[in-house]
Amino acid sequence: MGLQGLSRAELVSLLSASRDAAHQLRQNALEPTLRGRIVATMFFEDSTRTRSSFTVAAQRTGASVVDLSGGSSSVNKGETLIDTARNIEAMGVDAIIVRAKQSGAAQIVAAAVACPIINAGDGRHEHPTQGLLDTLTIASRFDRDSSFDLSGLSVVIVGDIASSRVARSGIAALTTLGASVTCVGPSSMAPSSLSALGCAVAHELDPLLSTAHAVVMLRIQFERADADAKPEQAKKSVIASVREYRRFYALSAERAGRMRRGAIVLHPGPINRGIELDAEVADGPRSVIMQQVTSGVAVRAAVLSLLVGGPRP
Ligand code: CP
Repeated sequence: MGLQGLSRAELVSLLSASRDAAHQLRQNALEPTLRGRIVATMFFEDSTRTRSSFTVAAQRTGASVVDLSGGSSSVNKGETLIDTARNIEAMGVDAIIVRAKQSGAAQIVAAAVACPIINAGDGRHEHPTQGLLDTLTIASRFDRDSSFDLSGLSVVIVGDIASSRVARSGIAALTTLGASVTCVGPSSMAPSSLSALGCAVAHELDPLLSTAHAVVMLRIQFERADADAKPEQAKKSVIASVREYRRFYALSAERAGRMRRGAIVLHPGPINRGIELDAEVADGPRSVIMQQVTSGVAVRAAVLSLLVGGPRP
């Protein structure tokens, strides 16, 4: 249900399949290997990129998609996630893609049904296809011999790491492939305990800018603050002051100008423009944010083909 614990060989296999899918998508030559298959998306948290990207990937590989969004499902009437998944499975779908607020939700659903479950983000735990697409995007720029050996590469992840499933999946993939990863943020967002994930932890961004090959900017996740708090209170419970946060951790045009030659900027989206990332940088020459989105379709096509392809059980 995540990238933590995957071996280097398993990651390379997933990334190689994703890179092949990316190549075939560019040539408009992706084989519809999932023709006749049906995948369901069960999203109980908002999403623009992940849900659309899984849908596009499924359709490009020939599968049909049943979309069940939280707002219109019977979960609103008290039905559990497990009962919902069992009902969707009973309709004969070939896989269910799950996003939920609760860490571990995809794992719990997977234990209750027989069809493949794909984790599209579970609380603060993992967002494995995002970790893969970020790694693929970084590798496509720096992996000169296409072996996915990222040793010697320095990746800095900036922001609300403690709340970030994107960071957890990214750290797992990048460090297993040999990159050195440093998580940067105020101690409330980048606690020293993160080092258990195999990354370094720092509280100052400026000294790292000139050496990083890739800087991954994260959104401050105001929605993971106290659910009962009003929006302004929620903001305050996450960071004392947006202005202070920006002073130390925002990637402004001036800071981007101090990055090393050829270094790239990533952001999983959605971007809080003017908070963690300035528009000039998001839309500037170092940004590979749209390439991340394009890579996402390839990763998801590869994952769907690996899990749903082959003869039906
Ligand atoms: N990166 C990401 O998960 O974006 P969405 O929330 O829009 O799916």
